[in-house]
Amino acid sequence: MKKEIFDKWSAQYDQDVTRDNFPFSGYEKTLEKLINSQRITHSTQILEIGVGTGFLLSKFYDNGAQCYGFDFSEQMLHIAEEKMLSALLFQHDLKNGIPEKIKKAKFSMILAGYVLHHFQWEEKIRIIQQYLSLLKKEDGRMYIFDVSFRTKQDYDQYRREHLDVWDDDEHYFIASEMTKHFENCDYIQFSDCGGLYTIL
Ligand SMILES: C[S@@+](CC[C@H](N)C(=O)[O-])C[C@H]1O[C@@H](n2cnc3c(N)ncnc32)[C@H](O)[C@@H]1O
Repeated sequence: MKKEIFDKWSAQYDQDVTRDNFPFSGYEKTLEKLINSQRITHSTQILEIGVGTGFLLSKFYDNGAQCYGFDFSEQMLHIAEEKMLSALLFQHDLKNGIPEKIKKAKFSMILAGYVLHHFQWEEKIRIIQQYLSLLKKEDGRMYIFDVSFRTKQDYDQYRREHLDVWDDDEHYFIASEMTKHFENCDYIQFSDCGGLYTIL
């Protein structure tokens, strides 16, 4: 998808994301549960790739984490900056590898919320693998929230029943495929179209 589309969407994004329907059903509630299950301190360093308006990352920021994030849309970043004054936020396109600024950093958590479905399967896996290398060895985790289905059958069935919202240019996740690529990968189906992956 083009950057300009996200620039235009930015002003409306925070209202859309809290609507409990495709693609965001269950997102906000699951995010709250995730945050409540974590011990976040001032030494918890969190990176979000495709940070958008900071809808996801700012919840961790408000709980005291040190936050880092990038996005290719300036307009999205402007809104994120207003929510997280001391976070390190910058413009970067995921297609261009790991940004120089954070190449040597290590994170307790890396978040990817509704961004990786813009990449085809092999590219998605490659990007995830790249960013896993930035996790702290002891306790680092990557959390991916996205449009996702347990199996290809569930994917096909949802597509058939929701052609009005389905976008064939996007590449939604299938958990049975993802878990083949990552040894330590847990999956929760949090709504009829949303899933959360935890990768160590
Ligand atoms: C649906 S929004 C999700 C925002 C945020 N992660 C959340 O969970 O609310 C997708 C974001 O990914 C960004 N994005 C899409 N493709 C990107 C790319 N190639 N590089 C960097 N950011 C990208 C968009 O600009 C947008 O802000």
